[in-house]
Order: sequence, then structure tokens, then C-alpha cells
Amino acid sequence: MRAVDIITRKRDGYELSREEITNFLQGVVNGTIPDYQAAAWLMAVFLRGMTRRETVDLTLAMAHSGDILDLSDLIPYAVDKHSSGGVGDKTSLVVVPLVAACGVPLAKMSGRALGYSGGTLDKLEAIPGFRVALTGEEFRDLIRRNGIVLAGQSLSLAPADGKLYALRDVTGTVPSLPLIASSIMSKKIAAGANGILLDVKLGSGAFMKTLDEARALAQIMVQIGLDAGRDVTAVLSDMNQPLGEAIGNALEVEEAVHTLRGQGPADFTEHCLVAGSEMLRLAGQGARWTDDAENRALLAEKLRSGEAFEKFKLLASAQGGDTRVLDDTSLLPQAPIVVTYGAKQDGYLSKVDALQAAIAAFDLGAGREKKTDDLDLSVGIKVHVKQGDKVQAGQTLATFYANSAEKLASARVLMDDVFAYSPESVPELPLFYGVIRGSELS
Ligand code: URA
Repeated sequence: MRAVDIITRKRDGYELSREEITNFLQGVVNGTIPDYQAAAWLMAVFLRGMTRRETVDLTLAMAHSGDILDLSDLIPYAVDKHSSGGVGDKTSLVVVPLVAACGVPLAKMSGRALGYSGGTLDKLEAIPGFRVALTGEEFRDLIRRNGIVLAGQSLSLAPADGKLYALRDVTGTVPSLPLIASSIMSKKIAAGANGILLDVKLGSGAFMKTLDEARALAQIMVQIGLDAGRDVTAVLSDMNQPLGEAIGNALEVEEAVHTLRGQGPADFTEHCLVAGSEMLRLAGQGARWTDDAENRALLAEKLRSGEAFEKFKLLASAQGGDTRVLDDTSLLPQAPIVVTYGAKQDGYLSKVDALQAAIAAFDLGAGREKKTDDLDLSVGIKVHVKQGDKVQAGQTLATFYANSAEKLASARVLMDDVFAYSPESVPELPLFYGVIRGSELS
């Protein structure tokens, strides 16, 4: 089976067999298929798409291109979550300890910030000493002892995805639904997940700009789950405006701590309760945690009692983190310059643009362009308002946390495009647009 024949068949719109997909993937990983052929095949997939069967075969071939993490002796039914990436999305910092506090063991692997999306690992590193690079034995030991661990993804998991993603990034083939779906799902399957919550975000600050696109992606991933024997739930959530207030690493840890103590922003707290309830539902496998109202009451109690916060502290201390910064968040990395941004006029906010706010935070140094770039953990922005809020000229809409007057000046200019004003009242944005549960489709 020659690589060029597989490329040609896809180019001409034929459905590839499982064998063709698996052989091609193997060749890409072991280097017998050069990058130029892999890139040509990616473009053919981008243009022709993939059937449901092809997408599942691609996902499983990518998942099995490296090690499969097997924690089944420690966690008989592993629940995981994935966010498609957003602005101010610190959900994992809250829902992982929150759901673990309900007795569900959570062993999660996360990623780093890239472009305008934040990364859970970078946020955790705002806690001095926190180690995200764990050995396989440490990872297992922490889940055995504490029922919670959050670390970087091992390079030996789904190496085909790493290779293909790097090629997609430079060949204009990232925005392909089967390629995105198989990329995300292969990593979750390789990480040993049985039940997976996917937070598929949509809007200006998300990968998927429209509800239709987000729903299509979510449906493909839920279908992959059904065909691959995994229980997948996808929530479709808003990313037109930032989630919560904080954008930036230490600022987001601070907001996560407030939320874990029951004092977080209303939208972010609600987001965590919905995600947490869906994770409990997955963990319950139809036998328990099937009632959202009861799940929410349980989760709210874990916030109120401090158990979720204690679980977060346990996670941090077990991975070398200095938990004094969690008890007193003023000890987190602090930016030297803190100044506010005021409304330009009276009116109702008709836009609080997530992408534009992320660009401003990025300019302050909160994000990274290339994987190797450093980021400043202390800087960022808090956006205190939401679409639909009535504001008065001069009212504080946001606060900058900067490390240089020059960067602050440029962020200030960018910030003008975050907000738009209307004399008429403007509806609030919904937090969620829908839930797709694989268990209800099968
Ligand atoms: N996130 C992933 O992990 N892969 C993609 O292709 C896109 C977003």
C-alpha cells in the first residue's frame, strides 16, 4: 500500500479503509512517510472530509500511535474533561477538585497556553513550586493516595496527534471538523478516559465561531465516543465574552480560589456547577447522579463546606505547590502596575468581546505565540462587566495588571474595541446553548 495511493484516493473522494488509515498513520509516526506526503493527505482530508467510520478509525489509530494510559487498577471508571479552549477559562482549576471532593477520583492531563487560549498548566505554575511534569509512577501514586492529580500530557500518548497538529498548523488544515475531533478524542482515549465531558465553546474567543459549527464538532466527538465505547457528553458554552472576570495566569488562580470558596463570579460559578454536574452524571454511569438538581446541591455543598477548596490545596501541596498563596492570594505573583479602564459613554454594553480582551491580555504578556515563549504569570486583565449591563461614562469596566507602561498603553488602545455601547437595552448572553449526551443517543 503506497502512501501516494492513499493520498490520491482521499483526494478523489473515496472512503479510506481502516487499514489504509492505520498504515498511513504508522508511516507518519515512524518517519517512513515524509512530511510532504502527510501534509498532502491532510489537505485532501480537509477538502474532502471524512465519514463517521473514517473519523473513528483515524481517532483510534492516533490514540494507539503511542502508549495507552491504563489506570484501571486504581480507577475502574475514569472520568475526564476537555475544553476546546477559551478566554478566562479556568474551569479545570475548579471542577477537578470540586468533583473529586464528591468522591470521584480524577487523574487529568492538561495543556499549555497557545495563541489567545490559556492553558491549565501555566495557570497552575502561578502557584510557586507546583510541578506539572510528573513521572508515570508519581502520577499513579498521587491518584492512589489523594484521588486527584493534574499534570502535563506525557509525550508518549498519541504522538501521531503531535506530529499531525504541527503540520496542520503550517498548512492551513487546522479548521477541519474530523481532524479537530480526532485530535481531541485521541488524546482523551490515550489518557485512559471512559467518560469524557467536552466543553465545546463557541463565539468570538473560541475556535468555533458559530453555534452550527460547535454543534457539528460536538456531535462528531459524541459519535466517536459511541463507536469507540466511551461515554461522551458535550456542553455547548458561550465564549463571546470572557468567562468570569480574570484573564491571566495568577489572576485566574485567584478567581478559581474565590470560586472554590463560594465567592466566585456568578457566571463562572454557574459554569462550574453545570460542568461538575455533567461529570458526576458520567461518573455515575446511569446508576447514580442522574438528577441535575441533586448534583448541583451536592456540588454547592462542597463549595460551601470548604471541601472542594481543601481538595485543591491537597492537589497543590502533593505536587510541590506552596499552599500559602491559596490561603492568601495576595502572595500570588503580583503585577507592579494596576490601573482601571473606564466606560467611554453611558449605555448598555452590546459587546464585551472575548477575543479582543484576550489579545489585550496577550499583549500584556499573559500568553505565548510559540510553544517556547515565556509568559508573565502576574499580568492580565479583569473584565468586570457582561453584555447587557447598563453602565455610566467613567464607570470601571476592567482592570489592567501590567509590568510595563508601554505594554499598558497598547493594551489600553486594544481595550477600546472590547466594548460597544447601545442606547437601547441589550439581551444578556446565555452561558450554554445545549448539551449532547452520548448516553441519550445510544
Ligand atoms: N484542540 C486539539 O487538541 N486539537 C485540535 O485540532 C484543535 C483543538
